[in-house]
Amino acid sequence: MQLRPAINAGTLVLAMVMLLFSSVHSHNVTRLLAKHPEFSTFNHYLTLTHLADEINQKTTITVCAVDNAAMNGILSKHPSIYTIKNMLSVHILLDYFGAKKLHQITNGTALAATMFQATGSAPGSAGFVNITDLKGGKVGFAAEDNDGTFAAHFVKSVEELPYNISVIQISNILPSEAAEAPTPGPSQLNLTGILSAHGCKVFADTLLASDAEKTYEDSLDGGLTVFCPIDDAFKAFLPKYKNLTAAGKTALLEYHGVPVFQSMSMLKSNNGLMNTLATDGASKYDFTVQNDGEEVTLKTKIVTAKITGTLFDEQPVAIYTINKVLLPRELFKAEAPTPAPAPAPEEAADAPKPAKKKKKAPSPASESDSDAPAESPDDDPADQTADDSAAVRFDRGGFGQLVLALSVWLGVSLL
Ligand SMILES: *[C@@H]1O[C@H](CO)[C@@H](O)[C@H](O)[C@H]1NC(C)=O
Ligand SMILES: *[C@@H]1O[C@H](CO)[C@@H](O)[C@H](O)[C@H]1NC(C)=O
Ligand SMILES: *[C@@H]1O[C@H](CO)[C@@H](O)[C@H](O)[C@H]1NC(C)=O
Ligand SMILES: *[C@@H]1O[C@H](CO)[C@@H](O)[C@H](O)[C@H]1NC(C)=O
Ligand SMILES: *[C@@H]1O[C@H](CO)[C@@H](O)[C@H](O)[C@H]1NC(C)=O
Ligand SMILES: *[C@@H]1O[C@H](CO)[C@@H](O)[C@H](O)[C@H]1NC(C)=O
Repeated sequence: MQLRPAINAGTLVLAMVMLLFSSVHSHNVTRLLAKHPEFSTFNHYLTLTHLADEINQKTTITVCAVDNAAMNGILSKHPSIYTIKNMLSVHILLDYFGAKKLHQITNGTALAATMFQATGSAPGSAGFVNITDLKGGKVGFAAEDNDGTFAAHFVKSVEELPYNISVIQISNILPSEAAEAPTPGPSQLNLTGILSAHGCKVFADTLLASDAEKTYEDSLDGGLTVFCPIDDAFKAFLPKYKNLTAAGKTALLEYHGVPVFQSMSMLKSNNGLMNTLATDGASKYDFTVQNDGEEVTLKTKIVTAKITGTLFDEQPVAIYTINKVLLPRELFKAEAPTPAPAPAPEEAADAPKPAKKKKKAPSPASESDSDAPAESPDDDPADQTADDSAAVRFDRGGFGQLVLALSVWLGVSLL
C-alpha cells in the first residue's frame, strides 16, 4: 500500500522522460532531405532561414520541396534572405498531406494553412495554399493570393513519417505576391529599440549617446552578434564607464559586438577566441567563448560572463543578454588584492628598449607569447593599457584566475 504512490510517481517521471525524449527526437527535416541531393538547395535555405528548426518543432507538418532547378529560378532574382524565408514558408503546410491523402481530398479541394500565414505577416487569404484534385490523377497547388491557376503540381512523395512529417516534391515554387513583397532588411532593424524593450535599456541608452552606435548600425547588414549586459549589471558599471576616456567608452561599447552572425548552436560548437567591433590590429579586444555545460560563457582576462537569453536570432543578426559587463584587459586591470611590485624590475631585466619598441610582426605565435610584457605600453602613457601588467601576471594559472574573479566580483559588489 505504502509503495504504490512512489511507484506511480516513478512511472510518471519515467513516462515524462520518455515523452520528452520521443518528442525531441521525432524528426529532422535536414537529415530527411539530405538523402536526396536534388533538393540540396532547398534544404540549404531551410537551414539558413531557420525554417528547419521551426519544422522540427512541429508535430504535424508537410514540406513541399522543389528541386535545385526550381530554386535557382527564384535565387536568380537575388531576393533578400528575409524574402526567401517568406517564400519558403508558403511551402510548409501545417497539416499532414501524404501522397494518399492528396489524392483523396474531400470534395476534391482544400485550403491548407502554411507557416507563412502563421507568422502573422500574411494579409487576408495570403498564406493559404489551395490544393485541388485535377483530371488524370493530378494534384494542383496554388498560393491562395494567386490568380486561380495552379502554378505547381504534385510530383512525388519524398519522405513520409505518418502522421508527423511528410516531405513531398512539387513541380515549382508557388508564387505569392504577399510572400515576395520585399521584407525589411536588417539595416532597418531597430537595434536599440529591441535592446531597450528586453531588459537592456541602460546599455541601449549608453550606446545611443555614443559613436559606437554607428559602428553597430554599419555592421547590421554584413552580420552582427550583440552581447548586451542586463540593466542591473550595466547600471552598476556606469560609474566606471564614466571614468573612461572618450576612446575608452567607445571601445568598451564596441567590445560587446562581434562582426559576424553567431547562432546559439554556432557559439556552442565554435569555442575559442573571438574578435569584436573594438578589435583594431594590435588592440586585440578579444574574448574567449567557452561552453560550461549547457551554458555558454564569454571570458575576458578579467571577467567571465554568462549568456542568459536570446533576444533575436535571425540571419544575419543575433542578440543575446549576458549577466555581466565584459571588461577588456585593454581598459581594465584586474583588481587583485596583492599589488605585485614585480613589473618594474622584470621590465628592467627584460630585453633592451630598442628591441622592445619594434612592432611585433603578425606571427602565428602562441597567445601567451604576444601577451608578454614586450607589449607593455611604456611608450603610450596616456593609454589605459598601463593597467595591463597585473592582468597578464595572473594569466597563467587557474588559481590566479580564481583570485582575479573573486576580487572583480568583490569590487563589483562593493560599488
Ligand atoms: C538535424 O540533422 C542535421 C544533419 O544531420 C544536423 O546538423 C542537425 O544538428 C540536426 N538537428 C537537430 C535538431 O537534431
Ligand atoms: C463537401 O461538400 C459538401 C456539399 O457541397 C459540403 O456540405 C461539405 O461541407 C464539404 N466538405 C468539406 C470538407 O469541405
Ligand atoms: C481552389 O482553387 C480553385 C480554382 O481557383 C477553386 O475552384 C476552388 O474553389 C479553390 N478551393 C478552395 C477550397 O478554396
Ligand atoms: C511520430 O512522433 C511520435 C512522437 O512525437 C513518435 O512516437 C512516432 O514514432 C513518430 N512516428 C514516426 C513514423 O516517426
Ligand atoms: C527605435 O525604437 C525606440 C524605442 O521603441 C524608438 O524610440 C525609436 O524611435 C526607434 N527608432 C527608429 C529609427 O525607429
Ligand atoms: C574614477 O577615477 C578616479 C581617479 O582616477 C578614482 O579615484 C575613482 O575611484 C574612479 N572611480 C571608479 C568608479 O572607478
